[in-house]
Amino acid sequence: MAKKIYPDSGVELTEFTAKHYDKLMNTASFGLYQRFIRKAVKAIGVKPGDQILDLGCGTGRNAALMAKNLSEQGSITGLDVSEIMEKQFNEKFSGDSRFRFIRQRIDIPFDLGKQFDKVLISFVIHGFPHEVRKTVINNVVKHLKPGGTFFILDFAEFDMAKMPALHRFVFKTIECKYAFDFIERDWKEILGEYGFGDFTETFYMMKYVRLLQAVKKDQPADK
Ligand SMILES: C[S@@+](CC[C@H](N)C(=O)[O-])C[C@H]1O[C@@H](n2cnc3c(N)ncnc32)[C@H](O)[C@@H]1O
Repeated sequence: MAKKIYPDSGVELTEFTAKHYDKLMNTASFGLYQRFIRKAVKAIGVKPGDQILDLGCGTGRNAALMAKNLSEQGSITGLDVSEIMEKQFNEKFSGDSRFRFIRQRIDIPFDLGKQFDKVLISFVIHGFPHEVRKTVINNVVKHLKPGGTFFILDFAEFDMAKMPALHRFVFKTIECKYAFDFIERDWKEILGEYGFGDFTETFYMMKYVRLLQAVKKDQPADK
């Protein structure tokens, strides 16, 4: 793997993990992940003509699930930093012009020159330092249409000290230190500062995981 951008991050994957990411998620969760991700993506409520941006799209697994509701007019643009993910994404959707992969870091400002109906970030944003997350959110604000929805599928807000000992052990063992900070923050308040509102939350995996939906209300200045 190329040198990590953030040495403490768990979302910059090793070559092996990137290559086998979907299988590893299924196996490590004893098959639970498959059922969970189908339900969570269904809750996004993709409409046939949606233009969707998927930040840190990985193999395109979520895109493939979202595509079930997409018409010929809809599209999914996946952004990811990994060449291995790019290959898997492009193999999955080869010949289907509704899908586009762009090798792009999402932790630095970028401009795709268009706005989307929905922006999804799934199990990526927890893996950045908090200052960097703000750049990611500014990228979302720039690329979402007014009235569009931002979906964060990631860990929910919870107190590690109150977790049952076994859950805490597993979480502390597999997760990176940025995740410990992510779960302590009030994400509705943070997103509110960027002009988001009308929040909807759906919880999964014993409430350790949440799909947070946030509607872009107005266009605040970059924060
Ligand atoms: C834990 S995986 C999640 C993949 C996918 N979103 C999913 O839910 O299946 C994290 C993904 O984020 C990508 N990633 C990590 N850092 C990134 C960055 N700075 N810019 C863009 N993508 C990044 C990784 O290459 C990887 O595909």
